[in-house]
This record gives sequence, C-alpha cells and structure tokens, in this order.
Amino acid sequence: MLRVTVLVSGGGTNLQAILDAQAAGELAGAQIAAVISNNEGAYALTRAAAAGVASAVVSPKAYATREEFHRALLSKVQETGADLVVLAGFLCVIPPEMVEAYPNRIINIHPSLIPSFCGTGCYGLHVHEKALERGVKVSGATVHFVDSGTDTGPIILQKAVAVHEGDTPETLQRRIMEEAEWKLLPEAIRLIAQGRVHVDGHTVHIDEA
Ligand code: GRF
Repeated sequence: MLRVTVLVSGGGTNLQAILDAQAAGELAGAQIAAVISNNEGAYALTRAAAAGVASAVVSPKAYATREEFHRALLSKVQETGADLVVLAGFLCVIPPEMVEAYPNRIINIHPSLIPSFCGTGCYGLHVHEKALERGVKVSGATVHFVDSGTDTGPIILQKAVAVHEGDTPETLQRRIMEEAEWKLLPEAIRLIAQGRVHVDGHTVHIDEA
C-alpha cells in the first residue's frame, strides 16, 4: 500500500479531489496517510478532519530560522511514513534536503501547461493573469515530479483547457481546477500506486493499463 502524505496551504480543493477519489475506491493501492499544512488556518485542514485523515501544522512562524522550519517539515513528513509526498496547493519552497530524501517521490500540481507560465513567483492567480495577458487560447494543468528547481521536474500528466472569450483570472482558474487539476492529481497518484510511472532522465513513461 502506497502511503501518501499531502501538503497543503489553502482551500484544499485539490486535497478534496484526492479524498473523494479515495472514498470512491479510485485510488486502489494508495492510502492518504496524513495532511500537513504550513498554515493553521487552511480550510484544507477542515477537509482532512471531515474525512478522518490525520493532520498537522508545521508553520514557519514557529521557527527562528528557515532552516529550522525545513528540518521540522521534513521530520514531520518522515513521521507520517510517506512513500509519496503530494503538493496540493502547497506554497512553501520544498527544501533541497526533502527533495534528496524523496527523489522522484514528491509530486506537484501546477495550473498551467509547463513550461508555460511557471517558475518563481508564478503561482495561484498570477499564473492565469499571465496566461490571459499573453492571450493564449489554451491553458491547462500539469502534474510533475519535484526536483531542486521550481516547476522544473519531470512531467507526469498534463491536460489542456480552453480559454474562453471574456475569461478573468478567476474564471480561468476555476475551469482549470474543475477540468484538469482535480482529475490529474488523483490519476497521477493512482498510476504511481500501480507502479506504472517510470522516470528516464527528464522523461516520464507511463505503462499501459
Ligand atoms: C491550485 O490552483 C493549484 O493549481 C495551485 O494552488 C491552488 C491550490 O488550490 N498549486 P487548493 O488549495 O487545492 O484549492
């Protein structure tokens, strides 16, 4: 059984999609072991509690230095016995020591078709503001492994979403969440739990069912 620990910072709609998939029996081979947030006020924690999933808060405010926070975060993740770490709207930079501890075992959902509209400072609504400024006709979401860079790890899954005339960053964000993010993240966990995902350098190969 693949033990999955989910890191969150905000509303937790991606966490909810994972919890709903688990409840529907769609995550065979994986179990959501715990949820960890850097933000004690994250509604994602309420979602975890409602689903009976253990949660914890590791807040940077509780530590004198960024390094101490990083050590505490890694220690908490390890305490959960995670085989796979899922970043579901987690807004803190993952420290190098965590990437080293979990090589190709941390995945992230990003709300664009990487390599477009990603990298440092490009998160949340900023992603959709940039996409609309550029006038793209198609955007979407990407699930990728986390490496030492920002949104630079091997791509696992992507899904395109049409941009509509008159879209605002908010309407585009919502459509990408509904049509792409909430489908891709549970699917990626399922594929990894089935042992069908293989990384070859910077390319990910997925075995047919
Ligand atoms: C989502 O847009 C996701 O793509 C990005 O952060 C947001 C998190 O939303 N990484 P939620 O907390 O899952 O609702």
